[in-house]
Amino acid sequence: MGARGALLLALLLALEGLRKPESVEAELLSGPCGQRVITSRIVGGEDAELGRWPWQGSLRLWDSHVCGASLLSHRWALTAAHCFESSSDLSDPSGWTVQFGQLTPMPSFWSLQAYDTRYFVSNIYLSPHYLGNSPYDIALVKLSAPVTYTNHIQPICFQASTFEFENRTDCWVTGWGYIKEDEALPSPYTLQEVQVAIINNSMCNPLFLKYSFRRDVFGDMVCAGNAQGRKDACFGDSGGPLACNKNGLWYQTGVVSWGVGCGRLNRPGVYTNISHHFEWIQKLMAQSGMSQPDPSWPLLFLPLVWALPLLGPA
Ligand SMILES: *[C@@H]1O[C@H](CO)[C@@H](O)[C@H](O)[C@H]1NC(C)=O
Ligand SMILES: *[C@@H]1O[C@H](CO)[C@@H](O)[C@H](O)[C@H]1NC(C)=O
Ligand SMILES: *[C@@H]1O[C@H](CO)[C@@H](O)[C@H](O)[C@H]1NC(C)=O
Repeated sequence: MGARGALLLALLLALEGLRKPESVEAELLSGPCGQRVITSRIVGGEDAELGRWPWQGSLRLWDSHVCGASLLSHRWALTAAHCFESSSDLSDPSGWTVQFGQLTPMPSFWSLQAYDTRYFVSNIYLSPHYLGNSPYDIALVKLSAPVTYTNHIQPICFQASTFEFENRTDCWVTGWGYIKEDEALPSPYTLQEVQVAIINNSMCNPLFLKYSFRRDVFGDMVCAGNAQGRKDACFGDSGGPLACNKNGLWYQTGVVSWGVGCGRLNRPGVYTNISHHFEWIQKLMAQSGMSQPDPSWPLLFLPLVWALPLLGPA
């Protein structure tokens, strides 16, 4: 499983940035979501601008960036289950935080504002079906205090079905992962964004069948990228959102999960399809209203050894 990290060549179109979000009432779990308050223009290049992806979070362990995450509501963030693979005891979330509203996961030590936007994780929930590999590579974290929404911090929408996005060629993935298979994001570690097309399973599955470590793309997975490669998530992007715009609002369609290398020809990135986990997410988030969520919620975590085929010759 690849902790997928970085984004390759982003060819940016500035147009979204210019459009004002319409105030469309979507069918939502938690009030307004998916809106960019800041509608600044990207001039080109691949660096994101502050406020363009206001739901993007940095999931951190002992203050080091581990994975991407997305903000769903004041108290909940979504990420990938494999982000916790090195954690032996998930019932003890101390050490885990999520930072929002920052362009970099490595702000200056002196940036008090950055400390202000870090929230302790109070509970970690992996998908109950997750067995230390894809599929079911999805996890929810509950934050110990409600996140304050600002121009730079907003939740993303998600809905029961992502069906309507299945032919979209203009979705976006964001993260702080590697920018090439062997190249970490350089200082100042600015959030990267890349536009990708959703690739349906009948197209995507055959692309992954020929390999020794054969992984089927099936069930709860969705592929995105482009056939020529070059546009992809990579190591360290894991857990981050694949987002598509509908009527001016942004909806999370996938969670960065795995891939074969990064940006390789005919190797699109593989994401966890949110649709398949909607009920689980909804059920857990409904606990928000409850006064005392059971802190000893049994967390099934099997620290299976990963076959790490990602960087091997494809
Ligand atoms: C996600 O899975 C659902 C249910 O199988 C499917 O209808 C939907 O098209 C998938 N989403 C995408 C983007 O492929
Ligand atoms: C996507 O394209 C396929 C094949 O052209 C079509 O059958 C399907 O209905 C399309 N899905 C959506 C949501 O438009
Ligand atoms: C999958 O995508 C391909 C190419 O975009 C298209 O030709 C095909 O009809 C799609 N299949 C389905 C089931 O949507």
